[in-house]
Amino acid sequence: MASNSRTLSAAADAGAPAPDNQWSSRLTFILAAVGSAVGLGNVWKFPYIVGENGGGAFVLVYLLCIALIGIPVLTAEILAGRRGGASPIRSFGIMAERDGHSRNWQAIGWLGGLCAFLILSFYSVVAGWALAYLGYAVGGDLSAAGGADDVGQAMGTLFETLLASPAALVGGHTIVMAITILIVASGVRGGLEKAIRWMVPGIFAILAGLVLYAATASGEFGRAAHFMFAPDFSALNWDAVLVALGHAFFTLSIGMTAMMAYGAHLQKDAALGSSAVAIAGLDTLVALMAGLAIFPIVFAAGLEPAAGPGLVFVTLPIAFADIPGGTIVATLFFLFLAVAALSSTISVLEPVVEYLEERTPLTRRGAALASGGAIWLLGIGCALSFNVAGDIRLWDHNLFDLLDFLTSAILLPLGGLLIALYVGYVLPERAVRAELAGIGPRGYAVLRGLLRYVAPLGIATVFVYGLM
Ligand code: TRP
Repeated sequence: MASNSRTLSAAADAGAPAPDNQWSSRLTFILAAVGSAVGLGNVWKFPYIVGENGGGAFVLVYLLCIALIGIPVLTAEILAGRRGGASPIRSFGIMAERDGHSRNWQAIGWLGGLCAFLILSFYSVVAGWALAYLGYAVGGDLSAAGGADDVGQAMGTLFETLLASPAALVGGHTIVMAITILIVASGVRGGLEKAIRWMVPGIFAILAGLVLYAATASGEFGRAAHFMFAPDFSALNWDAVLVALGHAFFTLSIGMTAMMAYGAHLQKDAALGSSAVAIAGLDTLVALMAGLAIFPIVFAAGLEPAAGPGLVFVTLPIAFADIPGGTIVATLFFLFLAVAALSSTISVLEPVVEYLEERTPLTRRGAALASGGAIWLLGIGCALSFNVAGDIRLWDHNLFDLLDFLTSAILLPLGGLLIALYVGYVLPERAVRAELAGIGPRGYAVLRGLLRYVAPLGIATVFVYGLM
């Protein structure tokens, strides 16, 4: 992890962070960004929203959103982060001064900070479910449920019992927030880099094994593939398109400046466009693999694809109960899922902590504790909305659903829209060109067109139709 001459020359650039605050290589950056992108969004959320929204047509819209809006916005975020070189909020201020545009673009950073609070508070609760299932795997509850006459129903009951327990949900959420705070408190080099090295490859390997299992043992792989990839447009409506767009943002970790914060630690000469494509490609691959592992089991066990947030927690344990060495595989899977979730939670907290560190007397540790503590409190509300506080509804949603919808469907696309406009129209073209030197004139023209026209119009259209 030695810093090299490239990091030193980058530090000489005004506003760039010190070398010891940079990723040790472009590969490490990609790994960290993939760690942020790959998480519960891919394994938990993607399959259940595919199930709820009718399958193939939804997947197609989602893939289009990733390619035409997600990748350009991801590139724009990393670009703006690297150019600003500080916490997202301050980066907009630095660029305003250097490039002579309005400081009001800082609003994107503030919006992102708000999003971080809202996202992490419900995300941490779901990460807590993964921890609970890790406990079930180790404690033998999964194999016990796997021995029942109706395995599907037994697994469903296990999940419902978890949701009904305030202590289990608050406990899991508390552990997740505590670990997140600890990692973020240790800084980019000491905490983030070390944590991500082995987690993402691990989850990838287990998912590949599960897809193989689903392809050979379930007898329903063809039906699952048909469900996921044969588009039935009669199942599609604007609500579903809004969900697909929102999820494209959520799964790529874009729209709230988290990738900006990661980009600020990237060397000046590292290629941006190909990094963004690699990050989005791997993220999409993991999501599709999760779907291909889960839906064959759904069909083989006679479960409902539209079962909702419990889908992955009910289906995969059925496979684990059936395969030799299933307890070990289940243990590893939920361990890796928890860790993949943690490599995402740290990226949500990071921009907030960086800002507090810059702007308040708080140390990194103090900043992590203060912001993480506030998120922990809000998260307790989310945990309790599955049981004792389930009757408290706002606009017909409990707190958990409300935060999920508000962030994915509204705030993240809004943030992404503003970032696309910012990099497309506000940053000086010469600066954007210089940052993108690697992609060539044609690549630049394509990206510029996507940022200036396709992404903004696409997001605006989906907002108009999806929210009406
Ligand atoms: N992308 C992560 C997932 O799919 C979640 C996540 C991490 C995120 N950082 C983010 C979502 C920033 C939105 C914004 O699980």
